[in-house]
Amino acid sequence: MNHSVANVVFSNFGDVPKTSKSTITGELKPTEAADAGVFMRYAAKVIIVPGYGLAAAQGQQKLFEFVKLLQSDGVNVRFAIHPVAGRMPGQMDVLLAEAGVPYDMIFQLEDIDDDFATTDVAMVIGANDVVNPAARTDKSSPIYGMPILNVDKAKQVYVQKRGAGKGYAGIQNELFYSPNCNMVYGDAAASLAKMIDSVRGLGKAAA
Ligand code: TAP
Repeated sequence: MNHSVANVVFSNFGDVPKTSKSTITGELKPTEAADAGVFMRYAAKVIIVPGYGLAAAQGQQKLFEFVKLLQSDGVNVRFAIHPVAGRMPGQMDVLLAEAGVPYDMIFQLEDIDDDFATTDVAMVIGANDVVNPAARTDKSSPIYGMPILNVDKAKQVYVQKRGAGKGYAGIQNELFYSPNCNMVYGDAAASLAKMIDSVRGLGKAAA
């Protein structure tokens, strides 16, 4: 174990087999963005993991709009940042700062990784490699030894992505097939807009 993070970032993934272990079992379980949004509204603790796809979608403003709605309903929401999420050092911190997310809601990997186990919902937005459990167990994987964000330990996981695209390392991710994980397919900005509408709709229904 113990690839340094820099090693993993700057290693040439092209030199290693792209296939991780082929023993992934389970199935992908798509769910509607609107339903995921409502579920999160009734959670107590939520952690959001942004990745490259959030930057690609330019979904950061929508994301914070959604998070503020959850907070106004009493949900505890925090952001978890992996040191190599995105494509540039600090990219996720900058993205969230651009959207106006306060610094005290943003946690780096080492400060939040133990908290996933006591979290109701972890929502992964356009991240893949940085939440791939193969890093812990699969010695043949190019990311083996890289610390990951422990989203698989949360009670419920939502993963936002457009389809079957792999991450930068080009490998499968068994997290997506876990019993506690549902896929929210679509461009991240569009999915977040649907989540906002669904939670706002609850407010109107209650009024
Ligand atoms: P990745 O593993 O690259 O995964 C990004 C995911 O975002 C993809 O699976 C893709 O799936 C999804 N996506 C792309 N566009 C999207 C959109 N518009 N809406 C929703 N989802 C979208 O990202 P990561 O977890 O942030 O990991 C970063 C990777 O880059 C690591 O392997 C890291 O080592 C490497 N890297 C990082 C850096 C630095 S310094 N940060 C530098 C070089 C390399 P779909 O195609 O299915 O949507």
